[in-house]
Order: sequence, then structure tokens, then C-alpha cells
Amino acid sequence: MKTSQSSLTTANAIWEQLSQLDRKTLAQLFAADEARVSKMSQRLEFDLGEAGPMGIFLDWSKTHLGDGELSAFEELAKVMGFDAAREALFSGGIVNPTEGRPATHGAMRGSGTEADVEEADQLLRRMGMLVEAIHQGALGEVKHLIHIGIGGSALGPQLAVDALTRDLALVDVHVVSNIDGLALEQAFAACDPETTLIAVASKTFTTTETMTNATSALKWLSDNKVDDPSGRVIALTASPEKAVEWGVDETRVLPFPESVGGRYSLWSSIGFPLALAVGMEEFTAFLAGAQGIDTHFREAEGRANGPLLAAFGDLYYSRLRGCQTRAVFAYDERLGLFPDYLQQLEMESNGKSVTSSGEPVDGPTASITWGGVGTDAQHAVFQLLHQGTHLIPVDFIASIAPGDELDPAHHKALLANCFAQGAALMAGGNMSADGKDPARGFAGDRPSATILVDDLDAATLGALIAFHEHRVFAGAVLMGINPFDQFGVELGKKMAKEVESGEGDFDASTKALMEAAGLG
Ligand code: F6P
Repeated sequence: MKTSQSSLTTANAIWEQLSQLDRKTLAQLFAADEARVSKMSQRLEFDLGEAGPMGIFLDWSKTHLGDGELSAFEELAKVMGFDAAREALFSGGIVNPTEGRPATHGAMRGSGTEADVEEADQLLRRMGMLVEAIHQGALGEVKHLIHIGIGGSALGPQLAVDALTRDLALVDVHVVSNIDGLALEQAFAACDPETTLIAVASKTFTTTETMTNATSALKWLSDNKVDDPSGRVIALTASPEKAVEWGVDETRVLPFPESVGGRYSLWSSIGFPLALAVGMEEFTAFLAGAQGIDTHFREAEGRANGPLLAAFGDLYYSRLRGCQTRAVFAYDERLGLFPDYLQQLEMESNGKSVTSSGEPVDGPTASITWGGVGTDAQHAVFQLLHQGTHLIPVDFIASIAPGDELDPAHHKALLANCFAQGAALMAGGNMSADGKDPARGFAGDRPSATILVDDLDAATLGALIAFHEHRVFAGAVLMGINPFDQFGVELGKKMAKEVESGEGDFDASTKALMEAAGLG
């Protein structure tokens, strides 16, 4: 996925052309084209077989992308080799050149080469067998699972379990990531050691936080006189030999391929807590939903491709409108962790300063992703969105079907608020009696996009995550960067070890802090 110098030169010319286009307000864009909504939105419908039908409506009409911008971005996609990169992603090509690896998370859900999909099926069958065996009592009574992992090995399971087990969880799952012992203590307090399993989730099986927490969890089991503590541990990893070396019996090691990146690993055995909590049938539906989006992403061209269109919008705001952040608000309690999940996916993938060939990038890369849950966020941070000095593109996500069984008035109000916020950000106005009080004025012309799903079930959650994975990938291709490495986390990790051991050359400020805390 390296981009040639001549392509980069042509790309620069397209960026120049984009920056010269006449800027229209949202109101002007709507006024100029009666068909704007139908042109800039689409309903994706999928028949997922056993997982049932799935519908997702994508509305990008309240963004500043006009015909001129869209044509230029489509040209940019051509010049940056989007078609070839997309093909490489699904056909096992080296899309992670700095580590010389393909990125085969798609294969985990059936989108990849025959060999990769066959390997993924085998690994998931193995996971399914263990899940079934646990449900049938092979490891005794199991009421709780403490899932230990961090970053990509924690955020996905945490999001998915939280989103999909509001009605019923077959096993009560606690995800622990932080090295702060308090996190693990809280999980211990909520679990009965006799009926608890420990999942140690680490692609590398070396991450300090995870291995420290895993050791303490094992000690907790033996301190509580649980028979055969290590027999209660399941390892989810791309380094099975390290898990065995650490003491996990091979039968309870669930491997996944090295070519599946940490923040893309929820589809693999890292999804074990979800499978255990909702059952394999639901987990399969989760994969099927993601595969539906894979198919759309592989087949749709240009602006008709949902994730690619979203990436056009992301780049438009970060590179042409100086937006340093983008916000995501889920109008659904079940998606409360979605903004956090996207934060890692987008910022760890595309927070880069050099191109895939090692040259400095020509413009800003990933925006800072942040957000929250509606309607709560309306009473906390929307003030700035409406009246602050920053221009922040917003994504709204909501479900037509309610997640609750209370009076339908709840859901009606939830959706009404979601749609009203997008409309208000765009329309602006003045709330004072004479319409002139500056403190009560709203500039308007503030962009948003809306993703409206028919229902939030396992398949749709899979689709939402896959949509954003491809949005990130498409953005990376357009910027010429590698979304699949994360060297930016390494320096801090190395220096934390040095601070802990006191072996290293530190600046005066750090030395003073270490001294104050008695470290080193
Ligand atoms: O520190 C960043 C990171 O490497 C993430 O990319 C990864 O998901 C996380 O740490 C955990 O790594 P592992 O799964 O190897 O424990």
C-alpha cells in the first residue's frame, strides 16, 4: 500500500483544486438541489440468512460535500490507488508495509482469501466448541467471566458485551484492563471465585498490564482455595506458545492469526466473552452483519460506497476546514461505549505523521475522536457544538426500534432529540424575542451525519463496527498512510519500564516526580 511520488504529486494538485472550490453553506447546498437528500443518503439492506434481515440508513446530506468536492475526492481515490488497496485488503496483500503483513480481520467474518477464511473458520469452530462445552458444564458451574486485556483486546469485548447483553447474559462478564489494581479488585468483589473463569486476552501475551492482572487473578483463585486455578484460565492470543509457557493448558488456548490487528480483533477469539455471554448463534450473526458491510465496501463505487463517502467527509473537515476533532453521539444507551471504541480504532490507526513510504504527510491525519450518549450529552457538551468557536463535524447514531419496553414515548423523544440536534446545528437562528441578542444566537451551518439502523442487534453492531473499520481504511488510503501499525505506543512503554526500574537517563522534572513518589 505504498504510494508513488507521482501519485502524491497528482494528489496534491487535487487537494489544491479542492481548496479552491466555492464554499457553499449547508442551506445553499440544500436550496440548490432538491434531490440532495436522496443523493447524499442511502439505505443498505441485507438478507443475512439465519441472522435475518438488516437495514441501515446513512445520511451524509447535512455535510458540506457538494458535487465538486465529491468528484474531486473520487478522483483522489483513483490517484491514491483506492481500488487496488481495497482489493489487497481482502486478498491478503501486504497492506501493513511497515510490519510486512496483510490485515486479515475481514477473513474472520468470511471476507478474505479462501485459505484465510478456512483458517478463520477452523479457529472460530474451536472457540465455538469451548463455548458450548462451558455452557454445558464442562468446567463446572460458570457464572462469571473476568476478561483481562487492554486496548484492542478489551475495548471490543467490553463494547459488544455491554451493547448486546442488556436483556440477558448467559455469563456475567467483567472486563478489566487497567494496571491500577482497583479495577481488578472491583471485578473480584463482584464475582464468586468458585464460579468464575478468567480469560487472558493478549495478542502478544506480553503486555505488562494484562500479564500483571492475569497473575493477580490467578493468585485470587488460589487464595480462595479454588481447585486447579490455572484450569480456570482461557487464553485468547496470537502467541499460543507463550500462553502455554505461561501455564494455560493447550485445550484452553484459543489462537487467532498474527495478521489480525489488536484493534481489529473482536471478530477473532478476542470475541470469546461476547460468544460466551450471548451464545455462538448470536456471535455468528455479529460476524454476518460485518460481512454484509464488507460486501458493500468491496462492491460499491465512489460516493455510493458508504465508508468511502464517510472518509471523504472526514478528510474534507480535517484538511479543508481545519477541524481537529470529530464527535460521535449514540442516541442509544447500548452504544454508550461506541465513541470510546471508535477513539482507539481511528486514533491508533490513523494518528500518523508519515506516509506508508516514510515521507512526512502533507496535511493533518486522524482527527481526535470523542463523543458520548444522547440525550445526556445535550445537557453537557452540546453548548460548545452549537455556540462554541470550534467547527466540529458530528455523527449521530440511533436505532428505529427501541431498546426498552417502557412507554413508547421514551423512544419517540430519544429519536426526536437526535434528529432535532442535527437540524438545529444546521439551521442556526436566534432564540431571543427580538432575534438580535448575540448571546442567544446560533450561527448554524454546522455539519452532521446520521446513521439510523432498523434495530440494534448482534448483526447490526457487527455492521456498525465494520463500517467504521472500512471508513478508517479508506481514509488511510486517501492520505497515503498505514493504518495497521501503532509504533506510537512503544516509546512510552519502554520508558515506563525504565522509570519502574530506575535504570535510565531522565529529565529533571521526571526525576523529581520519581523521587517524590519513591520510584526507581
Ligand atoms: O499498546 C497498544 C497495543 O499494542 C494495542 O494496539 C493492542 O490492542 C494493545 O496494546 C494490547 O496488546 P496485546 O493484545 O498484545 O496485549
